[in-house]
Amino acid sequence: MSDKLTANTRDKNLIFTPSHIANFICKALGIKESDKVIDPNCGYGLFLKSAKNYTDNIFGIELVEDVYKVAKEEFEDTVINADFFDCENLIREKKPNIALMNPPFNSSGDKTNGFVFVEKMLDWMESGYVAVILPMSCAIGTAKEIAKIKNGILEKHTLDAVFTLPSDLFHPNANVSTCCMIFKVGIPNNTETFFGYFKDDGFVKKKNLGRVQKDDWNSIEEEWLHLYRDRSNVNGKSVTKLVNGDDEWLCEAYMETDYSKLTRKDFEKTVRDYLAFLIKNGDYR
Ligand SMILES: C[S@@+](CC[C@H](N)C(=O)[O-])C[C@H]1O[C@@H](n2cnc3c(N)ncnc32)[C@H](O)[C@@H]1O
Repeated sequence: MSDKLTANTRDKNLIFTPSHIANFICKALGIKESDKVIDPNCGYGLFLKSAKNYTDNIFGIELVEDVYKVAKEEFEDTVINADFFDCENLIREKKPNIALMNPPFNSSGDKTNGFVFVEKMLDWMESGYVAVILPMSCAIGTAKEIAKIKNGILEKHTLDAVFTLPSDLFHPNANVSTCCMIFKVGIPNNTETFFGYFKDDGFVKKKNLGRVQKDDWNSIEEEWLHLYRDRSNVNGKSVTKLVNGDDEWLCEAYMETDYSKLTRKDFEKTVRDYLAFLIKNGDYR
C-alpha cells in the first residue's frame, strides 16, 4: 500500500487520506495502546496504518471488495468486507473508543455528504472520540439535511474541534475543500470548540506528482498540535468558541485576521483575483 496507489484512484468516493494528515489526526487524539480504534470506511487502511503505531487494537470495514482485498493483505482479519450500515451490532459489541473516518462524500442519494456515517458512528459508540474528514458543506451546513444532523449531534455529543484543512489536500483525485471535525462521544455540547485554520501544511501541487512537501511538515505539525492542545486563540491561526447546530463550524467564521502578516504580494494577488473575477463575469469596463 502506498500514497502512489492513492494518487491513481479516480473514483470520487475512493479518495484516501494523505498519510501525514492521518498521522497528525492520530497524534491530535493522543491514541494509546489501550485504545480500540475503528475506521468504518477503511479503504486501503491508511488511517489504520497510522493508528497501528500506537495500538494493535484496530478494526476496519470496507464495502468495495477490490479495495477490501488490498486492505486485507496488510491488515488480515482486522478488516472485513461489509456495509457499515449493516454493522451496528458488531460495532456495539467491539466497543471502539476511537473512530477515524473519511466517509464517502459523493454517494448518490446521500444529501448529507457523508455526515450520516458520522451520526450513526457517534450513536453506536459508548464513549471516546470520533475524528472525521468531511467537505466544508457539512461545516457550513445550510442544507436542511445537514443542519438537522448538526443540531441532533450536539444534543448528544460535544464538538471538540474543527480543523480547516488545505484546500487542495486531495489533489489530483478530488477538488473539494475539507475540514476535520473531532467529536467527544456521549457528552452534550456545552463547552467551547477549538477551531484551527490549518490550511498550509507545507505541501505544494507539482505537475504529474500530486502534492509534494516543500516546507518542513514536522514543525508545522508541531505547531498545529500545540495550538490544539493549548486551545489557543491566535490571530490568523486559531480560535475557541461555543457554537450551536445552526452556526458555521469553521475557523474562518470566528478568527481574527492577523493584518501584520499581510504582504504586498497578498494584496496584489487579491486585486488580480478580483479583476479576473470581474472579467470572467463580464462586469469589467
Ligand atoms: C473517501 S474513502 C476513505 C478511505 C479511508 N478511510 C481513508 O481515509 O483513506 C471512503 C471509503 O469508504 C468506502 N465505503 C463507501 N460506502 C461504504 C459503506 N457503506 N460501508 C463501508 N465502506 C464504505 C469506500 O469504498 C471507500 O473505500
